[in-house]
Amino acid sequence: ESGKLWGGRFVGAVDPIMEKFNASIAYDRHLWEVDVQGSKAYSRGLEKAGLLTKAEMDQILHGLDKVAEEWAQGTFKLNSNDEDIHTANERRLKELIGETAGKLHTGRSRNDQVVTDLRLWMRQTCSTLSGLLWELIRTMVDRAEAERDVLFPGYTHLQRAQPIRWSHWILSHAVALTRDSERLLEVRKRINVLPLGSGAIAGNPLGVDRELLRAELNFGAITLNSMDATSERDFVAEFLFWASLCMTHLSRMAEDLILYCSKEFSFVQLSDAYSTGSSLMPQKKNPDSLELIRSKAGRVFGRCAGLLMTLKGLPSTYNKDLQEDKEAVFEVSDTMSAVLQVATGVISTLQIHQENMGQALSPDMLATDLAYYLVRKGMPFRQAHEASGKAVFMAETKGVALNQLSLQELQTISPLFSGDVSCVWDYGHSVEQYGALGGTARSSVDWQIRQVRALLQAQ
Ligand code: ARG
Repeated sequence: ESGKLWGGRFVGAVDPIMEKFNASIAYDRHLWEVDVQGSKAYSRGLEKAGLLTKAEMDQILHGLDKVAEEWAQGTFKLNSNDEDIHTANERRLKELIGETAGKLHTGRSRNDQVVTDLRLWMRQTCSTLSGLLWELIRTMVDRAEAERDVLFPGYTHLQRAQPIRWSHWILSHAVALTRDSERLLEVRKRINVLPLGSGAIAGNPLGVDRELLRAELNFGAITLNSMDATSERDFVAEFLFWASLCMTHLSRMAEDLILYCSKEFSFVQLSDAYSTGSSLMPQKKNPDSLELIRSKAGRVFGRCAGLLMTLKGLPSTYNKDLQEDKEAVFEVSDTMSAVLQVATGVISTLQIHQENMGQALSPDMLATDLAYYLVRKGMPFRQAHEASGKAVFMAETKGVALNQLSLQELQTISPLFSGDVSCVWDYGHSVEQYGALGGTARSSVDWQIRQVRALLQAQ
């Protein structure tokens, strides 16, 4: 006897290197709890279908509880023959309750078992990650609300563009994350579908009631086709893509903050709790937390692309290639969990240098507003843009700031300039003009905060 669950037709031994190559227990042991959960539901289904007596079912349920207990207490002993979590748990069940254990796998295949386990595990993980994501968004919105009167430069092409509220910047990242949160719910919905009862490929021939299994495991629906159910991993790909997009957002935010905490910008200062020093240069305080957030994005994208390549070109139904899905899921889940918590920590402890932010504003950033001033006096925008551009050129040639041009000088550009042009040079006045919903005026920033808070509440 080979000691394998599939050993019947085998005579020769498996090469040890192949044994190791084939085994997934090193990582799929993470599934121990959901594997037991799935098996318990399945034994109830077998009993309902008349394939187990009530006594046998109770024996199996009891045995599975013992298996779970051993895992929970760290006393579960793996042996060298345990190929994966499914074989390990069944092997142990047999040791605990004897031959009745052999009835548990009736009509079931590891093909429907593993994908059921994975969906159960990912369903839980999605809920956890969703909570962490909302925690981050909440932290950002709280900050945006508390600091909404702080102004600083907004950049396009990394060139000073227009004055904006600091909160407007925070919210720009927070609202992107609300879409990630929405997407995660969508992905969870498609994960939450039960494949159990699909067997290896053809379905279940023994009358197992899949509706009952669904209810037992609290899935939202059952898969429609046993071939699709056992081999499709689109729900994994979607999850990895969700993570990739979320990491894109977090990485971009991290990049902004890395710039903002450089001496050249000095807009913010990272808390010591999220920085590290240099072993050589004593003065250094490096934003490692943010750099790692930025870099983890690459790792997550790699997992997403890697899985798609694994899936592409597979012939129908289960192939061992699919075993590779789990490491991607576990690694990306762990990464997302860490990244979201670190990002929350960074944002909640960040110090801002309001004065530096204010000093970084320069009158040239008001050139657009100067054009709008002329628009309000009736000039078509294209002409106003041209006129404001001329003023910028004049100031540059004279070597003065834009707001240093005298009224007479401005009037050589357009007679529409009058004394009230001085209002344009006020940054607070500038941002308040952008009151249309979504803009950087206080009323609109407040509106954004209310919108995101409403989404938070709906969670
Ligand atoms: N460890 C395997 C996996 O993770 C379980 C399924 C094995 N199925 C099979 N037909 N060999 O995919």
